[in-house]
Amino acid sequence: MAESPKPRVLVVHGPNLDRLGSREKEIYGDMSLADLNEEIRAVAAKLGLDCDIFQSNAEGDLVSKINSSGDAFDFLVINPGAYTHTSHALQDAIRASSLPAIEVHLSNIGAREPFRRHSVIAPACLGSIAGFGTFSYLMALEMALSLLEVREE
Ligand code: DQA
Repeated sequence: MAESPKPRVLVVHGPNLDRLGSREKEIYGDMSLADLNEEIRAVAAKLGLDCDIFQSNAEGDLVSKINSSGDAFDFLVINPGAYTHTSHALQDAIRASSLPAIEVHLSNIGAREPFRRHSVIAPACLGSIAGFGTFSYLMALEMALSLLEVREE
């Protein structure tokens, strides 16, 4: 019998996340983006997910990537970085893609400076996971799998 195709998850990292491991380590930890991506790939493989990862510092590139991903993926996990707090364009792109999405953050944005406590991305997402460092991404992958399984039933 043919195996059913693996669910396809796109993980998007926004601006300055390429500096993980050297940037404000007391807030974001000391794991580099390359090491985080390796963990994401390992967990995705364990969960039976097909996973692609994209990082950009440019809002337009993030929008274009999401715009071209609606048909290519089943789920979006996104850490929009500082665009979380400003980017209506990203909110629109996520909505337009019709991809179910989870917003993730390494830090607990609800407990930080006032400008970080509001997410303009949240209305386009099913939920958010914040404050658990790199585990926020790994938890989002587990949640993505559960949600995709529920949708298939
Ligand atoms: C972040 C939180 C944002 O406020 C910040 O601008 C980031 C990282 C996080 O993962 O905690 O770049 O998204």
